[in-house]
Amino acid sequence: MNAINDNIREDFPALALEINGHRLIYFDNAATTQKPRSVLAAMQQYYEYNNANVHRGVHELSNRATAAYEAARDRVAQFLNAPDRADIIFTRGATESINLVAAAWGDVNLQKGDVILLTEMEHHSNLVPWQLLARKTGAELRFIPVAGDEGVLDLANIDVLFEGVKIMAITHISNALGTINPVKELCIKAKAVGAVTLVDAAQSAGHMPLDVQAIGCDFLACSGHKLCGPTGIGVLCVSAKLQEELPPYQGGGEMISNVEFQTSEFNIPPHRFEAGTPNIAGAVGLHAALDYLDEVGLEAIENHCCDLAKYLRGRLLEFEGIRIFGPTAERGGVVSFVLPDVHALDLATMADQQGIAIRVGHHCTQPLHKKLGIPATARASFYFYNTRNEVDRFIEVIQKIVKLLR
Ligand SMILES: Cc1ncc(COP(=O)(O)O)c(C=O)c1O
Repeated sequence: MNAINDNIREDFPALALEINGHRLIYFDNAATTQKPRSVLAAMQQYYEYNNANVHRGVHELSNRATAAYEAARDRVAQFLNAPDRADIIFTRGATESINLVAAAWGDVNLQKGDVILLTEMEHHSNLVPWQLLARKTGAELRFIPVAGDEGVLDLANIDVLFEGVKIMAITHISNALGTINPVKELCIKAKAVGAVTLVDAAQSAGHMPLDVQAIGCDFLACSGHKLCGPTGIGVLCVSAKLQEELPPYQGGGEMISNVEFQTSEFNIPPHRFEAGTPNIAGAVGLHAALDYLDEVGLEAIENHCCDLAKYLRGRLLEFEGIRIFGPTAERGGVVSFVLPDVHALDLATMADQQGIAIRVGHHCTQPLHKKLGIPATARASFYFYNTRNEVDRFIEVIQKIVKLLR
């Protein structure tokens, strides 16, 4: 079942840490992943031997930095199967990528009465930017409902929901439920009504093979730090069709081709959307992360995380009265749950005392939690370096906590 060798854990210095006297069990991967040595080394090497600003210098170091930065763009384009390297815009993360679309595309394309279609399971990063846009333009926010604790989209009235939609922005994998949404099918439906599409791939990039052309979306957003890369680097992939009509997001150096005192002409994409000095070391680290993931194998990663999620789900059923969220079968590596009589915060705090890192709260999906009628869940989220043994240890610790608190 497990196609991933446990030796892989040795590539990650953090996985050898002792936390509160116990070997770390890191189950907070939906928040951010740990980093392999190859990513750390690539960034160290960049700063030691290639550090300069990009696109500006005629000197050797600037040429090296530019080459490294642009090679990362090529690598991301290949990783996402984007048709062209110009489709890849580097941002600070998925949040900035979505804000870029809401601000730049939304500003010139949305007006009062237009509909922005989201789902009820969106992360705040794919909700609040649209709320700000709706407030500014008078557009309407509409939501595809989430059905029950299984947490799948209720598509019964989908054709009605698509009426008047100008943009659909939906998550690929829910960070709270682990649900994998049918993004390809929904993009086809959106296109049929002439709507633009954005897929929030923060939880799917680096967790399954991704192909923007197969998904058929206009925009795809993701973060480097959730796929073994560094923080502060993310990607917005933009279809060629929309690049020319997308106005600049921020002004500054790099994004212009000619500047006068009163006006400016803007650079071609993707540089038009990368104002100022970019996160060059971040791009280098992201490049190394993508190389690493391809070596591990994205299908193996997907299967491994799904297997661990199903295994944990099955073992959690040993606890009477437990409420587990998200699908039973096809799912990402995220399991959220609440135990009767044990507050999720107590569970997470006591698990931490045993060296187990889980997340507690609404996981930036507060409206979803309100709909489910719970203020907080405990969430274990996996990556390919986690093991069934770690899940067993987690279950033992929960057993002890339940005994203590009941
Ligand atoms: C589904 C989803 N979308 C967007 C984000 C935001 O990502 P970032 O904080 O890296 O910008 C997250 C982060 O948890 C997420 O899980």
